[in-house]
Amino acid sequence: MGNKETTVFVLDDEKSVQESMRMILKDKYQVFTFGRPEEALAGLSLDPDLIFTDIRMFSMDGLQFLGKVKKMKPQVEVIMITAYPDFSSTLQALRSGAFDYIVKPFGKDQVLEAAERALQRRNQVMESARMIQDLREAVDLNYEATTRALVLAVDAKDSYTAEHSRRTSELLVELGKRIGISHSKLITYHRAAELHDIGKIGIEESILRKEGPLTPFEFEKIKQHPLIGYQILRPTTFLREGLDIVLYHHERHDDKGYPEGLKGKQIPFPARLFAIIDAYDAMTTERCYRSKLSLGEAIEEIIKLKGEQFDPSLVDLVVPHFLKFEKDGYLHRL
Ligand SMILES: [Fe+2]
Repeated sequence: MGNKETTVFVLDDEKSVQESMRMILKDKYQVFTFGRPEEALAGLSLDPDLIFTDIRMFSMDGLQFLGKVKKMKPQVEVIMITAYPDFSSTLQALRSGAFDYIVKPFGKDQVLEAAERALQRRNQVMESARMIQDLREAVDLNYEATTRALVLAVDAKDSYTAEHSRRTSELLVELGKRIGISHSKLITYHRAAELHDIGKIGIEESILRKEGPLTPFEFEKIKQHPLIGYQILRPTTFLREGLDIVLYHHERHDDKGYPEGLKGKQIPFPARLFAIIDAYDAMTTERCYRSKLSLGEAIEEIIKLKGEQFDPSLVDLVVPHFLKFEKDGYLHRL
């Protein structure tokens, strides 16, 4: 890809870096260079498609700048420029929504390839956003059909996720009934649980379908899915408090989860409950990278993770119901 309608910003406090980036990019893109973050932020009204930014600058940290850009224009892709491979800042940047990074001194091909990949991804995201916008308009008229359509959209990318979402949402309702959650809340929770991994629409297929362990870089990408899902669904009115399930289903009781690293009761109740169900279903399903646990083994594992991954009092509350489900054969039928 490359056309002069695509706008690329370069932000670096070194003039020489600005100029060499301009030379590399100017044949394919419309390039604007900035020496100060404040100027680049003011320039956001020009609607850039992509921003290269230095990770360390005098007046504002590159990470702070990234945060501001993502708040003002969430769909702009950002690539960090680092002087040396500073792993912790780079991971932090990826976690905060940067697409990639390049290391100084960089070569022409490295810059162009990074730009191309970022712009491809931006196109995908914009396309999904358009599709979702169309679907969203139908939401309040017919949310059941819309939910199915969104689930199918995820299914097309990652077939495991669609089935997993169906099972976990049904289990959440069954369990919710037994622990006294109201019918109206359960309707919302059911819809949100069906869509809890919708953010995977925004993750590259090569990562979603990868067999074998993920690199830290790939894992950081996966970790963006709750936030992407939340951003997709936030404008809908039919999910309301169910959105907590989408955004916080990977938080952990011991604060080692993501995206926000919340601790204990800071994690909203439906997300704490759903995290147990989500993990249970993942454990009892065969995946390409590991074999499944039996029902009993999964329950044992959940009890073992009490106080670490899961809210201990919630585990105590739901385990007897899991055991009852197992006895009834309900879990096999899901
Ligand atoms: Fe997830």
